[in-house]
Amino acid sequence: MYTEKVMDHFEHPRNVGEIENASGMGTVGNAKCGDIMRIYLDIDENQIIQDVKFKTFGCGAAVATSSMATEMVKGKSIQEAMEVTNKAVCEALDGLPPVKVHCSLLAEEAIHAALWDYATKHNIKIEGLEKPKSDIGEEEVEEEY
Ligand code: FES
Repeated sequence: MYTEKVMDHFEHPRNVGEIENASGMGTVGNAKCGDIMRIYLDIDENQIIQDVKFKTFGCGAAVATSSMATEMVKGKSIQEAMEVTNKAVCEALDGLPPVKVHCSLLAEEAIHAALWDYATKHNIKIEGLEKPKSDIGEEEVEEEY
């Protein structure tokens, strides 16, 4: 039911962890299943994403899509990272079962939330980026878990 690429990223997820003093951090929850994803971005002065890490309380499809999404934004500019949609991530993984497509949204939303955090801290505007809707504050996450 899962493609080889999904299984590979699920079994050997890339970029798991956290970044201390990250330039941007975003946490989002998926209302459908209650899973949570956090993304850390290290962005340099030229607005290039030098490093990215993720942590999740999420299902296997969320792990695989986040692993792939982090690989796809690493080394990219902010604008290029905005083009890494959940659709692009699913395609890079050779597809997900339809019931699991919502899981891939978690990675996209968390990256956007982390970019929003970066933009807010640096007082810049990122074209096409909207305020994340399902951003969950760190305190709320800790209270829940
Ligand atoms: Fe929750 Fe996949 S079931 S992210």
